[in-house]
Amino acid sequence: MPVLRNIGSLARCSAGGGQADIHTVAGAALIWDEGLIQWVGPESELPTEGYSGLKGADLDAGGRLVIPGLVDCHTHLAFGGWRAEEFSLRARGASYLEILEAGGGIRSTMRLTRDASEDALLSRSRAFLAEMACLGVTTVEAKSGYGLNLEDELKQLRVYRRLREEDGLPRVVPTFLGAHVLPPEFQEAGAYIDYLIAEVLPVVAGGGLAEFCDVFVEDGAFDSALATQLLLAAQELGLGAKLHVDQLGDGGGGELAARLGAVSADHLEYTSESGMRAMASAGVVAVALPIATMYLRQRPMDGRAFLEAGCQVAVATDFNPGSAPSYHLPLALTMACTMNRLTPSEALKGATQIAAKAIGRQGSSGSLDPGKRADLAFIDAESVDHWLYHFVPNAAHRVFIAGMPVGPE
Ligand code: NIG
Ligand code: FE
Repeated sequence: MPVLRNIGSLARCSAGGGQADIHTVAGAALIWDEGLIQWVGPESELPTEGYSGLKGADLDAGGRLVIPGLVDCHTHLAFGGWRAEEFSLRARGASYLEILEAGGGIRSTMRLTRDASEDALLSRSRAFLAEMACLGVTTVEAKSGYGLNLEDELKQLRVYRRLREEDGLPRVVPTFLGAHVLPPEFQEAGAYIDYLIAEVLPVVAGGGLAEFCDVFVEDGAFDSALATQLLLAAQELGLGAKLHVDQLGDGGGGELAARLGAVSADHLEYTSESGMRAMASAGVVAVALPIATMYLRQRPMDGRAFLEAGCQVAVATDFNPGSAPSYHLPLALTMACTMNRLTPSEALKGATQIAAKAIGRQGSSGSLDPGKRADLAFIDAESVDHWLYHFVPNAAHRVFIAGMPVGPE
């Protein structure tokens, strides 16, 4: 039963309080057993009885900041190839949608993903996850959406299932994003959504291959009516709803997410105030993706306005080969402070407690509370403010997933 002592400051990130309330404990200690947290509190109150085998199992945080393992609640983890040439094209003035309409963008990754074997996607995704873990990330949502037919969507989702069976990696939470863009085999979006509902969704849900269904709602992708059709069908089959909305323009995405009772709505750069209010009353988590905003040189999502409207705001990377080719969640947190107007405490809670809620994991992850998984990171910083203000390549000194240390001892 490991006892972790000498924690300079522990950010508990419990569910109660506002987004800025990260429940800091100074001079803390923490006990876990069999991968689950047993006790958290000031080291001066460490229980002397009831916890067997304390001796010899002590760990020392060296006076560092300790945070819950970070939760990346929006990634497109498994994909073939990269798209560096589009990065250059955009610098010369081409837009994301122009590149997509010319057959590049998501469709280019679709071709490369269809050509990749399941094993190749698996080993690449495993390597990404291992690198994410070193940054302090211990849970990762991962979307399909680069297969765009039955066989290749299932291939991506099987990669996620196989990764879930491996120990020592961040836990993977799978999302079906068959409605990412229209694949070349279909001329009409309605016909493709009918195909997804009739032939793909039942196999995905029946095989337990995804927990959520997501749709990219945008000009050039799918409209609100088709998204509604697919997400209602997905909800009937027990999947939660997620949405990519209002990324390139206000498409009424906040209102749509509220009507559908979506678990989260993500991007939201152009969401109106009425959309924010609708999301707040329906309890939809607003997910900020500042890395995508930066790569596409867009106006940032107004995280502060979402908080003022009564929403909870999560922060994620959106890791994918096009709009967000980085899995660096701490970078996204610093950017959430500069671009989305969150404070460091709000950003941290947005990548722990609130991100866990955005993927239905609030019962097991996202805070350092008894009963939760012992997912945690030692951060080389004196405070959360200082950590996100003084950005360094990797401030995570040690990371534990379900109580087990990540990487070489
Ligand atoms: O979240 N917006 C749609 N989908 C992804 C981008 C995927 C890609 O460009 O490959 C996003 O930004
Ligand atoms: Fe995305």
